[in-house]
Amino acid sequence: MANEVLKVEHLDKYYQKKHVLHDINFTISKGEVITLLGPSGSGKSTLIRCLNGLEDFRNGEITFEGKKVIPNEKNWQQLRQKIGMVFQSYDLFPNLTVLENILLGPTKVQKRNVDEVKQEVDKLLQKVDLLDYKDAYPRQLSGGQKQRIAIIRALALHPEFMLFDEVTASLDPEMVRGVLNIIQDLADEDNMTMIIVTHEMNFAQQIADRVLFLKDGNILEDTSGKEFFKNPKTDQAQEFLQSMNF
Ligand SMILES: Nc1ncnc2c1ncn2[C@@H]1O[C@H](COP(=O)(O)OP(=O)(O)OP(=O)(O)O)[C@@H](O)[C@H]1O
Ligand SMILES: [Mg+2]
Repeated sequence: MANEVLKVEHLDKYYQKKHVLHDINFTISKGEVITLLGPSGSGKSTLIRCLNGLEDFRNGEITFEGKKVIPNEKNWQQLRQKIGMVFQSYDLFPNLTVLENILLGPTKVQKRNVDEVKQEVDKLLQKVDLLDYKDAYPRQLSGGQKQRIAIIRALALHPEFMLFDEVTASLDPEMVRGVLNIIQDLADEDNMTMIIVTHEMNFAQQIADRVLFLKDGNILEDTSGKEFFKNPKTDQAQEFLQSMNF
């Protein structure tokens, strides 16, 4: 497919002897939003980490924009420029201000012009209502604010593809919406290609073009978002949705 961003073929992942991903196959096209759902321990984080070269895998192939993803240090540096990833913990550098945290990648790694990047970052911060916190340190921010900064930091690298792994899981309920809104805007306004792991089922239903349902390291369903939430095919997916009170 011409607009294919990422292709995963026959991916198998082991942790020592433990087989955690079984023959994973899927592709994602430009602008598509996939939510990756499944019970705890099903392999969601492991899969996400394989996709951007953070995890070694045993068999299979991952192709990003026509190039093979080979998990090693050098490749990872390059992939990180194009595949943005945000986790549950924000991992901002505590000794750097918000602005310094965000500028690091674009200016030190990508060697872009500092003034240009700063202008762009101001706009991004404005958009998420955090411009006033530009010179604050991470410890002075709430969890939700830190998570919004972590997303801005990823976006400032101009990624072509974003991975989100439970970015709202450690937030107080009142902080969740602000973070999800940024992701929703990325889908609606920027047509960003994304894979999102989330336990927020309303959000997943709202944003997903497609759902991959993972259980015990197997993709049991790969279907449109509409279909998955209306009519889950497998007992396992039905049970999962029930367990989420959905
Ligand atoms: N570094 C590791 N070493 C050994 N086993 C691991 C490691 N990381 C994860 N696992 C195992 O791999 C399986 C998949 O874990 P993973 O973290 O990918 O699940 P998950 O779907 O993201 O779960 P959760 O919803 O709780 O985040 C689990 O059985 C887990 O115990
Ligand atoms: Mg996980």
